[in-house]
Amino acid sequence: MSSFQTFHETAFPPGPQSQALFERAHAVFPDGTTRITVERDPFPRYIARAKGAYLTDADGKRFLDLNLNFTTLIHGHAFEPIIAAVESQIRNGTCFANPTEAEVELASLLCARVPRLERIRFVNTGTEAVMFAVKAARAFTGRSRIAKIEGAYHGAYDWVEVAQASVPQNWGPPDSPAATPYYRGMPASVLDDVMVLRFNDAARARELLSRHASNIAAVVIDPMPSRAGLIAPEPEFVTALQKTAREHGILIISDEVLNFRQASHGAAARYGIQPDLFALGKIIGGGFPIGAVGGLADVMKVFDGSAGRPLVPQGGTFSANPISMVAGHAAMKALDEITFARLERLGNALRNRLEDAIARANAPFSVTGAASLFRIHPKPRPPREFREAHWNAAEAKVMTEMTRSFAGHGILLPVGAAACLATTMGEVEVDAVAGALEAFLDQNAELVEEIS
Ligand SMILES: Cc1ncc(COP(=O)(O)O)c(C=O)c1O
Repeated sequence: MSSFQTFHETAFPPGPQSQALFERAHAVFPDGTTRITVERDPFPRYIARAKGAYLTDADGKRFLDLNLNFTTLIHGHAFEPIIAAVESQIRNGTCFANPTEAEVELASLLCARVPRLERIRFVNTGTEAVMFAVKAARAFTGRSRIAKIEGAYHGAYDWVEVAQASVPQNWGPPDSPAATPYYRGMPASVLDDVMVLRFNDAARARELLSRHASNIAAVVIDPMPSRAGLIAPEPEFVTALQKTAREHGILIISDEVLNFRQASHGAAARYGIQPDLFALGKIIGGGFPIGAVGGLADVMKVFDGSAGRPLVPQGGTFSANPISMVAGHAAMKALDEITFARLERLGNALRNRLEDAIARANAPFSVTGAASLFRIHPKPRPPREFREAHWNAAEAKVMTEMTRSFAGHGILLPVGAAACLATTMGEVEVDAVAGALEAFLDQNAELVEEIS
């Protein structure tokens, strides 16, 4: 067990302060929370403050944060260069109807780093970034349908929500995955306008895309979809998508809202994808709300309003607000090649340690991920796609217990999504995470047996 450990005998449930806040919250929020993604077991852990890799909850307990606001905080919490940049900007105004130098600075940095990111527009969230990328692809091609990956999460724009939460009862046959609705009342026309592909199924993707090419504007692809398993794309799959899309004038939208943290030139370049459009978010805002749609200059022309109303009008009261711009610039500037390389080594070391612990315990788990991202699966072999990563009831129970056990060891591990490292983490944290998995496997042999 590492030197970091702060063993919390009473990590579950979270403490009385969190409970009291949750009770108050029920008077104002429909289920006591204000976003679906808040974990509750049985109620959420409220946070009082955070610094670097660590959070302190409302009851004064300290935790290593492997969630980092859904992978946003690549430098951890309250990173000094971001605080300095934001403090100084706040004194000069927080939002204007006019543009600022700050937006040009951040855009220039991003475009200089990422191949094919020739032009960019800032928005406020990843959802908006994906939405405008889809609109841009439709306007550019004159087609309305999109293709997306089963189980992949792309935010809250209706078309990309299709088949996001498919389950064995409705996901359909392996060779024709169903366009399942995400919410009651989702218009049938939305479902009709989405073709669902299975990740890493090259042959079927090629066939489906070719057959329906004439009305498909774009394939939306997250190079390593986190909720669909945080699984790497196989080269054959990438080639099939790429080639078929090119042949039929279908655009490729790389949704790197989450996976942009994999490399300074981005995730698409890392996996050999050549996008026409990108959706970015999370890390590029340094912990402040942000999104960006970008891509090839001729495609991005759809946003060009210099000669009147553009093909796709895009605005936004807070888009390119200077706080997000300067925070993002400070975050990205601190992420040089050396820092990315260090994160890569740290991630490799952690994934190796987790795999060693699993092998030693001969337990039916596996690990996926890359760079600073990882996911532990209750599966003896790493899944290749969403259906293989899907949990049955026994597996879900084991993963809940694992999360509780981690919290007992002072570590917040996200459930069913990517966990991540920050530049403020090092060997101590890798030891702590590997130690927590070892302890869980040691102490839960009987439970683990149920999924073997
Ligand atoms: C791949 C991907 N796309 C889009 C989004 C939506 O981003 P936001 O929550 O900023 O709207 C997310 C958020 O987690 C994401 O992971």
